[in-house]
Amino acid sequence: MSDKTDTKAAPHHVAIIMDGNGRWAQQRGRPRLFGHHAGARRVRQIVEACPGQGVKYLTIFAFSTENWKRTQTEVAGLMSLFRRYIEREAKALIENGIRVRFIGDRIRLDDKLVAMMDELELLTAHNDLVHLTVALNYGGRDEVTRAAKRLAFEIEQGRLTHEDVDAETLSKFLDTHVLPDPDLVIRTSGEARISNFLLWQSAYSEYEFVDTLWPDFTATEFAKVLSSYGRRNRRFGAVTV
Ligand code: IPE
Ligand code: IPE
Ligand code: MG
Repeated sequence: MSDKTDTKAAPHHVAIIMDGNGRWAQQRGRPRLFGHHAGARRVRQIVEACPGQGVKYLTIFAFSTENWKRTQTEVAGLMSLFRRYIEREAKALIENGIRVRFIGDRIRLDDKLVAMMDELELLTAHNDLVHLTVALNYGGRDEVTRAAKRLAFEIEQGRLTHEDVDAETLSKFLDTHVLPDPDLVIRTSGEARISNFLLWQSAYSEYEFVDTLWPDFTATEFAKVLSSYGRRNRRFGAVTV
């Protein structure tokens, strides 16, 4: 008798809402940015765990279109953390076979950061071990709105007609057009909401909400969440026996 849970495929694409950095810092009586730095250090461990777990695509939510509402100090600190992170991690990402992509609207990000993001995408473009996508100034509604706008422009220019508008065509205009839909979305920190993350793409994703704050989320816990995914029965609206 075979154990079905052992043979079920690992999630091909995992997306993570890395939440809880602020509370982690607060618990230690430290400024919120201290938590963001600790959170950034976690990322490498989770990325490195992916190949062994059979995860080919990992998408992480780093900064939302709503996060601009935070204090100027926190926003500026996060932006400088993103720059330092790219500087510090680029070499390892390139050498370890990680292909990096960024999704989100770059228009509001500063030029230096955008140039670094472009360069890292280019330098890792030949990699294929793990596809890491970082959502930066990303919002699901914003992404769909930008896609709709570009689609409307194509119609205005006469390159498409309204008859061409279907889910597949719209998907091609999303930031994620080259990525498969996430099989599993994990949110840390105990909040059970999606906060505008991958709204379109997660239509049939499985969700896992864990209480652990992001800076405490270990590769061991990650593996546990992945194995619980293997026991789920995904139906996609159909009936299974
Ligand atoms: C997630 O941690 C990181 C970002 C949103 C940039 P938070 O900063 O939201 O941490 P909490 O939710 O306040 O604990
Ligand atoms: C979602 O977390 C965004 C990121 C993890 C980058 P938030 O902490 O911003 O979400 P809310 O405000 O609790 O919904
Ligand atoms: Mg939060």
